[in-house]
Amino acid sequence: MPGAATLKDCKTLENIAKKQAADGRPYTALCAASAVALGSWGLLKGLQAICYPSFMEQLSSSASAVESRGRGPGTAMEYSIALVELLYGKEKAIEVSGPLVMPSNRGPEYTFAELNPVKWTFENSPKILVPIANGTVEMEAVIIVDVLRRAKAEVVVASVEDKLEILASRKVKLVADVLIDEAINRSYDLIVLPGGLGGAQAFANSQKLVNLLKKQRESNKLYGAICASPALVLEPHGLLKGKKATAFPALCNELSDPSEAENHVVVDGNLVTSRGSGTSMEFALVITEKFLGRQKALELAKTMLSVQ
Ligand SMILES: *[C@@H]1O[C@H](CO)[C@@H](O)[C@H](O)[C@H]1NC(C)=O
Ligand SMILES: *[C@@H]1O[C@H](CO)[C@@H](O)[C@H](O)[C@H]1NC(C)=O
Repeated sequence: MPGAATLKDCKTLENIAKKQAADGRPYTALCAASAVALGSWGLLKGLQAICYPSFMEQLSSSASAVESRGRGPGTAMEYSIALVELLYGKEKAIEVSGPLVMPSNRGPEYTFAELNPVKWTFENSPKILVPIANGTVEMEAVIIVDVLRRAKAEVVVASVEDKLEILASRKVKLVADVLIDEAINRSYDLIVLPGGLGGAQAFANSQKLVNLLKKQRESNKLYGAICASPALVLEPHGLLKGKKATAFPALCNELSDPSEAENHVVVDGNLVTSRGSGTSMEFALVITEKFLGRQKALELAKTMLSVQ
């Protein structure tokens, strides 16, 4: 909100959605938008639907509300895979979800491996740098930024390209807060790299970012990476030396020490790594937990419906 309310107020969108329904074609919504947009337009009458819990009451006036977990940010990935299955069939859904490293059996709480535990500290609020580049996996970047900003961290998104706007791996345009030149002028409690082959290569080739990461390690500060970035950025620049880490499954053989690589998230002292898009939420929650404690992280997970 207020995004869903703005969608509801858009007459053009309402007309498109109503025509879609009248033509017997599929329509769908996630989170608040089910109740706020589809419900208000009368497109849920006589149907069963779900939405974000606090909007359920609004929903039940027009549709019969069903209890289910598919209704908020933490379930957006399962929701999207369900759409793929509805549109293209089971086989396509399996093909698409494979490389996403989807959690296969989500328990009530997330878990991670921790070695050489140290206390993660910060002043006021954690200051976190998230670099992006052409080819960055949009969902990894956005989930990390979203969750950490919910956790009240000060997150700076920096482009390592020569423009603020980058073209992410699935052609979503993301706009950074600053260029890397401006970002390296500050110090960060944590620097965390999203994945994507093209994005990771751009990070590895950015002397400024690599220097910043090396300085981070030398001063015993925190750094992390997910998906392609542990193997393609940290490893070749010596930033995994003496560390256990994980990465995108197909790249784990490139890690210095892959003995813990089966875990979704691995914390080794000042380093945190994770496997891929499907583990981004757990990755961000583990970072939240290391800064703010498990209680806070679990509360946050619940509001996002990413744990039961
Ligand atoms: C990054 O993507 C943008 C947008 O497509 C493009 O203008 C720019 O040239 C790309 N940068 C590189 C280094 O390829
Ligand atoms: C870095 O920050 C200092 C203090 O804010 C400023 O004077 C300086 O111009 C900045 N340098 C760059 C390269 O942005």
